[in-house]
Amino acid sequence: MPKPIFLIGYMGSGKTTLAKKLASKLELPFIDTDDEIVKEVGMSITEYFQLHGEEKFRALEREHLQKIAQQKAIVSTGGGSPCFFDNMQWMNENGVSVYLQMSPKALFDRLSQSKLHKRPILIGKTEEELFNFISEKLVEREPFYKQAHLIIDQINTPVEDLVLLLKNHL
Ligand code: S3P
Repeated sequence: MPKPIFLIGYMGSGKTTLAKKLASKLELPFIDTDDEIVKEVGMSITEYFQLHGEEKFRALEREHLQKIAQQKAIVSTGGGSPCFFDNMQWMNENGVSVYLQMSPKALFDRLSQSKLHKRPILIGKTEEELFNFISEKLVEREPFYKQAHLIIDQINTPVEDLVLLLKNHL
């Protein structure tokens, strides 16, 4: 049965960039669950959070994840998705999950240089608050992320190595 490869990990860990590269090298479709949600609701994730709240967003995120079952594709998931409902277990049962592990410091460096307004749960934080928030959230989220089939060091793992690794899991 065809199965998706789910890239999971914190915001800023490079899921989308890596998913695009893997999709091209493995000649598979690329899916970004956040993009799918944006297409459906006709507004940005930030606007959706502001209008409808996180609970509604998580329900929508769950629906979109489940739509991907049985598709052979590389999927970039939202950073929070493995930590709600039984999404992590569901991904493990319906595909191959890959956690892009990164330290709080590396995530902070990447996120503080990115467009924070695109990420509703990070909006309005000072640098110190941002670092503390990332560190605390990672402690909370890693028990989910670490259930992934594969855990990779995103910074030091060449894409070619990952391609070989994934070919064995497809
Ligand atoms: C979130 C991560 C975002 C997006 C939403 C919530 C999170 O996705 O789903 O803003 O809770 O970590 P990315 O990880 O692709 O930025």
